Amino acid sequence: MILEIRKIGDPVLKQKAQKVDKVDSKIKRLVEDMIETMKFANGVGLAAPQVGEPLRVIVVDYENKPIAFINPEILEAEGETIDLEGCLSVPGIELKIKRYERIVFKAQDLNGKVKKYRAKGLLARVIQHEIDHLDGVLIVDRGITEEVGNNI
Ligand code: NI
Repeated sequence: MILEIRKIGDPVLKQKAQKVDKVDSKIKRLVEDMIETMKFANGVGLAAPQVGEPLRVIVVDYENKPIAFINPEILEAEGETIDLEGCLSVPGIELKIKRYERIVFKAQDLNGKVKKYRAKGLLARVIQHEIDHLDGVLIVDRGITEEVGNNI
């Protein structure tokens, strides 16, 4: 089912999302709907608060294959990269955002199993963006609006 994507100004986007205790059928259904919604909106990632569910669930499109991460948590991060980012909840704008270049993170899969992942580049960027959503952080909270001297 395609869900409504909440837009900036909706309080659910500013909330800290709750940890998922158990990956049950309700969560699996939510993931299915989030993947359908992400594809419909041509997004590369989506976090549960964006569809009105304040739960720590994200989906990302990895080389045209959707993957769900439950309770994702960054364990290690290094490097720095600045690039333009958009967000389905903040339509019509793109902002320069500084992210880590490489991350190691853990998350549960749809069987509830904890796995450890490595990501770099665009995928690492998308995952950091989606985890931000779980903490109520939007691109407008992180955007670099001014470039000063040679510091960037
Ligand atoms: Ni977003």
